[in-house]
Amino acid sequence: MQYRKFGKLDWKVSALGFGCMRLPVLDNNMAHIDEKQAIQMIRYAIDNGVNYVDTAYVYHEGQSEVLVGKALRDRYRAGTKLATKLPASQVQSAKDFDRILNEQLTRMQTDHIDFYLLHAMTKETWPKLRDLDVLPWAEKAVKDGRINYLGFSFHDEYPLFKEIVDAYDKWMFCQIQYNFADTKYQAGTRGLKYAAGKGLAVVIMEPLRGGAFTCKPPEQVAKLWAGAPEQRSPVDWALSWLWNQPEVSVVLSGMSALAHTYENVAIADHGGVDKLTPDELRLLEAVGKAYNGSSPVPCTNCRYCMPCPNGVDIPQIFAIYNDITVYDSMRNRFIYRDMDKSKRPENCVECGECLPQCPQHINIPEELKKIRAFFDA
Ligand SMILES: NC(=O)c1ccc[n+]([C@@H]2O[C@H](COP(=O)([O-])OP(=O)(O)OC[C@H]3O[C@@H](n4cnc5c(N)ncnc54)[C@H](OP(=O)(O)O)[C@@H]3O)[C@@H](O)[C@H]2O)c1
Repeated sequence: MQYRKFGKLDWKVSALGFGCMRLPVLDNNMAHIDEKQAIQMIRYAIDNGVNYVDTAYVYHEGQSEVLVGKALRDRYRAGTKLATKLPASQVQSAKDFDRILNEQLTRMQTDHIDFYLLHAMTKETWPKLRDLDVLPWAEKAVKDGRINYLGFSFHDEYPLFKEIVDAYDKWMFCQIQYNFADTKYQAGTRGLKYAAGKGLAVVIMEPLRGGAFTCKPPEQVAKLWAGAPEQRSPVDWALSWLWNQPEVSVVLSGMSALAHTYENVAIADHGGVDKLTPDELRLLEAVGKAYNGSSPVPCTNCRYCMPCPNGVDIPQIFAIYNDITVYDSMRNRFIYRDMDKSKRPENCVECGECLPQCPQHINIPEELKKIRAFFDA
């Protein structure tokens, strides 16, 4: 395992961090984590050098934090930095801050969170938490030892990112969506460099665009991969591209099978700053552009929009539609046809509850209408 600088801290973080938003599940039920496999994966990663584990109050409908607590029992907690997040969506008043943090400590069987994030800051969530005085509250939680360091995760445009970085001089770190296809999206490369320049550690999420880079690629992408100067897996290219940049501290990988953990831990042994050649960097830029020209709905299957109050399975519908559009696969037409009717787009009543939840700012009701028309036709 390689280790990297973590902002101003006198501590080195493993190049690979464990993201606990996409753990393996049973019965296709996000709340039913395959506990045995998930614990084995997290412990394998830690035994092989990973020292940063990221979860959140809302992942796996609250069960991710519980699972992480079990995985980090015994000797696994001591050398591992634990990150979790305050969900703005669950906060009605400032009283909720303590309630949520204390519940998280209980769920995770720990007396402190090493890295605590304001979760998914946007132009709606940042003013909401800021105006409820989240920062003075968090400083008290740092003083009483329940939190060690404060940061935020981000899903909006660069100007807001800069505003948040500048709004508080005690941020230790931030977390951004970043990969070779999202260099100009949300915080992007500008945000990475700005935050790192101000001394923040930058934690990367969605390094494989939520797994999109591991699916069968669109034709244009496949052609580019075939002409690569060296044959490596897309996971290897994507992670290596991130580690090539000195401003990146840790790359969170949302591993969902033991095989992913074996592979990604092995890749983390050889990734490092300035390891990619100019030709390789040009290749990844071209692949990123090709991806950006291919999928009609930029959904990364993070499932923040779920549950839909009317039962619509929003991420599944977008995944099926994207796959059909990119690959024109008949298989996906059948999957759509056979989908449980209660989960289909016609159940959307345009209540808009999903809209502020989507980190990609997709106009979900509009897209659902279009997709319904596409399939009806
Ligand atoms: N704070 C926020 O707002 C926020 C938002 C998003 C994520 N996060 C955090 O960041 C972490 C990382 O983001 P992410 O989960 O989107 O990561 P990601 O690495 O972009 O996507 C993870 C998916 O990639 C696929 N994958 C990973 N390794 C693979 C391998 N070796 N071979 C084949 N497929 C592989 C799996 O997809 P399949 O399951 O389809 O095989 C996996 O579910 C999350 O787990 C979470 O902790 C935070």
